Amino acid sequence: VDFHIRLSGTRGLSEQIYQRLRAAILEGTLRAGERMPPTRELAQRLSVSRNTVAAAYEQLTAEGFLTGRAGAGTFVRAEAVVTATPRKAPSSAALRPRAIWTPLLSAPDLLAPSGPSAPAPRYDFRLGTPDARLFPFDEWRRHVARQLRLSAAGPGGYEQPAGAAALRTAIARYVAVSRSVRADGEDVLVTSGAQQAIDLIARVVLEPGACAAVEEPGYPPVRHLLASHGARVAAVPVDAEGLQVAALPDSARLVYVTPSHQFPLGMPMSLERRLALLAWAERRNAVIIEDDYDSEFRFAGRPLEPLQSLDRSGRVLYVGSFSKVLLPTLRLGFVVAPASLRPALLAAKRLTDWHSELPGQRALARFIDEGLLARHIRRMTREYRFRRERMVRMLEGELATWLTPIAGPAGLHLAALADRRPLDVERVVALASRAGVALSTLSPFHAMRPSRTGMVLGYGAIATAKLDEGLRRLRDCVRAAAR
Ligand SMILES: Cc1ncc(COP(=O)(O)O)c(C=O)c1O
Repeated sequence: VDFHIRLSGTRGLSEQIYQRLRAAILEGTLRAGERMPPTRELAQRLSVSRNTVAAAYEQLTAEGFLTGRAGAGTFVRAEAVVTATPRKAPSSAALRPRAIWTPLLSAPDLLAPSGPSAPAPRYDFRLGTPDARLFPFDEWRRHVARQLRLSAAGPGGYEQPAGAAALRTAIARYVAVSRSVRADGEDVLVTSGAQQAIDLIARVVLEPGACAAVEEPGYPPVRHLLASHGARVAAVPVDAEGLQVAALPDSARLVYVTPSHQFPLGMPMSLERRLALLAWAERRNAVIIEDDYDSEFRFAGRPLEPLQSLDRSGRVLYVGSFSKVLLPTLRLGFVVAPASLRPALLAAKRLTDWHSELPGQRALARFIDEGLLARHIRRMTREYRFRRERMVRMLEGELATWLTPIAGPAGLHLAALADRRPLDVERVVALASRAGVALSTLSPFHAMRPSRTGMVLGYGAIATAKLDEGLRRLRDCVRAAAR
């Protein structure tokens, strides 16, 4: 450990060092078994004589806090930590100064516990999580290990903000083949997830106070993000064809849409709407973010042309993510940007975090080039298709009295509207939670009230083996809430 001990004055230095170390052991800052720095080293760091430190160590050893092992050094004694009764040492939290600042950003709903710290529900229908159990870890590990070995032998300096050249080329080919996005490696900027791509775009196109339009209902993290950049965020309703272009405010400088698989409702944006949105953006000189976050999992039909390839005036930024096709923990996404915005985006990336982590990027490039990504997507599409069909069967069968699924063609989740008979969906979610089943209503995805009544079900997180039981429990909860 790197020791920092605050000493005051020049007298009683040994006593001060003794007191600080003793307190650190009692508070648990220094743990049982931890190796103490050699007296000479600590003395040098504290600019005191070696004898001063040695006297403090001797005192602590005599009291049983430290123990010396010949040839190995001085260690915190395990028994000392277990048996010592601390003299009401103030906790480090109590010692910290109290905040007097009210931060500008407040979005408590974004900080709900998730990830490993939150208890995992037994039947997890929460949206947005792919099935990590089926991730090809061995192949990924092999590629990452190789890249780490190679980077250890490299010059070890910073690299280009745009990301690894091999990955940019691989992404350009991948989106061209799988989604007819027109791109070369040069058009691609690798980001830390789609979220960072959108953050960078907001930085370079939004003046403070500018209007940014998002879908209603929509993806809350993007709404909050745009607001955090000082934008006035307008929530524009969607209907069965997607964003209602006629309802866009004239002043919008940026429009954020999810045309392949509307988040959270699931329908694609119709071709007419896509063309109308592009024409509107051209008239208003606005920029469009096309967030294509999970449409690689396709279950029906051919995808419609992306806005990016229909765009004739260079105003669409196509954003993609590896969070759903691979894993969200990789934090890898990208943006395909028109030439006019590229230098500014690179500058924004450079200012924000210089560049994303590189060995992972190069591993992903190989992963794509060797066809492993395509294979994983094919496998997961088969798996998710099965789960989704089961889900639709339940919704259209035993739950048809109350719920209507929206049959989107792609993605990792499904919305169902409670538009048939009155159904207290909040109650369904509460009952489900007690039965070990996690899912969401549609309401958190709305910025305005009243919201559409319904539920959203993800099929990424739940294991196929648990699916039927999860659905049965959910059915029982819907019936109980409807009674
Ligand atoms: C609409 C939408 N966009 C993007 C993402 C992915 O974001 P990221 O790549 O930052 O993980 C998600 C994930 O839930 C999403 O729902």
